[in-house]
Amino acid sequence: MPVEMRAADDAAIEAAGALIREGRLVAFATETVYGLGADATNERAVASIFAAKGRPTFNPLIVHVADIDAARALVAFTEEAETLARAFWPGGITFVLPRLAASPLSLLVSAGLDTVAIRVPAHPLAQKLLKAADRPIAAPSANASGEISPTRAVHVAQSLGEAEALALILDGGACALGLESTVIGFPASGRPTLLRPGAITRDEIEAVLGYPLEAPDVASGEAGRSSPGQLASHYAPRAPIRLNVRAPETHEIWLGFGDMQEDARFNLSPSGDLTEAAANLFAMLRAIDDAADGRQIAVAPVPREGLGEAINDRLARAAAPR
Ligand code: TXA
Ligand code: MG
Repeated sequence: MPVEMRAADDAAIEAAGALIREGRLVAFATETVYGLGADATNERAVASIFAAKGRPTFNPLIVHVADIDAARALVAFTEEAETLARAFWPGGITFVLPRLAASPLSLLVSAGLDTVAIRVPAHPLAQKLLKAADRPIAAPSANASGEISPTRAVHVAQSLGEAEALALILDGGACALGLESTVIGFPASGRPTLLRPGAITRDEIEAVLGYPLEAPDVASGEAGRSSPGQLASHYAPRAPIRLNVRAPETHEIWLGFGDMQEDARFNLSPSGDLTEAAANLFAMLRAIDDAADGRQIAVAPVPREGLGEAINDRLARAAAPR
């Protein structure tokens, strides 16, 4: 039976909170992408996320909480994490921090690691759901593993509509940011590391810290823990993709950026605005994939500054060999 979808009014959010407490899955809007949420303290509920997504079991999940005090009850903050939380929470940034021994979180959310990825989302719907559920909510992006992240409720229905454990999709409209959160690691020694570029840019974070973020330390295995980075192909449309194309071949369909000479039916941002491009990215990759009909997608160059770092990261994954 296809999953129920409801507009996120107060009654629907209350019902969703009850479903989470019962161990069911609820998909909900955040300011980054839609999340597939479960009670983060319920091992079986968390396991059903992996089953619904068909996700490799070693990929740990992000735990969402309503505020920094709720986060402090679950993980050990460092001074740098406190500073970044004050600057950017609630919002599109996630911190990987050591689990507290007394943490009631499911072991599966950490996928065997001694750390937890934690985030305070800003979207009012996510905030209300956290209060209605009255517990931390584990939520990866609400798409089948390897697919493009959902930025509209209908994307969730298309990708996970038949998943048995998914009880409800809470429709909160289009996601304002449209890119997953930035993930920051805080190794026991050394500076914070950029584990996944995302909605909050490197420049914004470095401006608050006053020094550059490190690259993850591959030797320590930190990078392997860091992201679906190990899955080279991720966010993958069906059509093959060619990147940094200034002029498409006749057999290709063109995904533009900025003021393009060609007739670009699909353009991430005609005015060359990276924030607009981020918000459009996943929805437009879906639309162009549907329109491609077997043709290759040629993507215009997107500058690497600001949000362009995360946009280029996602495009590279979409284009990776599968
Ligand atoms: O914007 C977002 O972050 C969305 C919304 C729903 O909050 N969530 C999301 O979750 O993108 P997911 O599961 O698709 O991505 C989680 C990322 C992955 O790259 C994962 O490897 C990393 O966070 N991660 C989670 N726990 C970790 C840990 N303990 N250590 C290192 N990386 C971790
Ligand atoms: Mg994801």
